[in-house]
Amino acid sequence: MTSALPLRRLGTTGPDVSALGLGCMGMSALYGDADRAESIATIHAALDAGVTLLDTGDFYGMGHNELLINEALRTAPAASRERALTSVKFGALRTVEGGFTGYDGRPAAVRNFAAYSLQRLGTDHIDVYRLSRVDPDVPIEETVGAIAELVEAGHVRHIGLSEVGAATLRRAAAVAPIADLQIEYSLVSRGIEAEILPAARELGIGVTAYGVLSRGLISGHFSRDRALAPGDFRGVSPRFQGENLSRNLNLVDRLREVAQGRGVTVAQAAIAWVLARGEDIVPLVGARRRDRLAEALGALDVTLDAGDLAAVEAAVPAGAVAGARYPEAQMAHLDSER
Ligand SMILES: NC(=O)c1ccc[n+]([C@@H]2O[C@H](COP(=O)([O-])OP(=O)(O)OC[C@H]3O[C@@H](n4cnc5c(N)ncnc54)[C@H](OP(=O)(O)O)[C@@H]3O)[C@@H](O)[C@H]2O)c1
Repeated sequence: MTSALPLRRLGTTGPDVSALGLGCMGMSALYGDADRAESIATIHAALDAGVTLLDTGDFYGMGHNELLINEALRTAPAASRERALTSVKFGALRTVEGGFTGYDGRPAAVRNFAAYSLQRLGTDHIDVYRLSRVDPDVPIEETVGAIAELVEAGHVRHIGLSEVGAATLRRAAAVAPIADLQIEYSLVSRGIEAEILPAARELGIGVTAYGVLSRGLISGHFSRDRALAPGDFRGVSPRFQGENLSRNLNLVDRLREVAQGRGVTVAQAAIAWVLARGEDIVPLVGARRRDRLAEALGALDVTLDAGDLAAVEAAVPAGAVAGARYPEAQMAHLDSER
């Protein structure tokens, strides 16, 4: 039996989606080994609970994540499968060793990436399709124009963007309707508030916020002595290193006090804070286990009033985090940071 969750619309032209989406990346990549059966059980539990938005990228485990979603959808009850919406990123160029070598947003590449994704997902369309990082050699108008042609052909339903700044938002929106911008947004990553979020709002573009737990840093479950597997993004993320990690976990301790006072967990307070930032924002949560998912969904039952929000922000003031959100080489790919 599928339940219902509150819905939010992705921008003025996008679909209605569950107020929390499930980000599937960690089930295939970047956070160490994941358990395949538990990953599929987590997707099923999410769909059962009423989550309709599944976020992935064709480069998450180089196709692995899309194949996992394919299997989860094939083995889910028909009712939840039919309500599920896929949000897919493309464009990252990979090496056999797993490295990232750049981004390809050329129209021919867009068509090629989409053909492979549809095959791996086992669906006849992708609900929201987006370039993961701007290709500096291809004007955004050309990439968005190519996705618009896929919309015209019925292979894609809506166009999204990822990690772009206000100027690129405007250029893209002049070509075709944009449903949402996917971008990092959390208590400790508030960079979008100055220009990008106001521009998205002016243009009627929704936000799917990722990293709402700062990749586990502000989940309440990360500790100073946690051993990370080789290849875990957190092993290179500036926020998880040495003195930065210590300072950041001190912020989490302060957030824990506020959360405990409200009878919620740290992760729930962090997710509820993002939910409270606007009806046009849909947090993606990177749960890859059912217990983590249940905790994250609990945030939908938490209403932070003005006093609670002030207490949360006093515990984790804007700009208090130590360390950039990506290593320097990856920061250079972020149009949103220019
Ligand atoms: N557009 C982009 O550039 C971009 C970039 C990154 C991600 N994304 C998308 O956004 C999604 C979410 O991002 P993310 O996974 O980095 O961010 P996240 O949700 O901030 O972090 C997920 C991490 O938090 C830990 N965690 C602890 N408690 C949790 C709970 N109750 N619920 C969920 N996670 C909990 C997880 O646990 P454990 O380690 O304990 O399992 C996981 O390692 C990704 O799956 C991906 O689809 C997009």
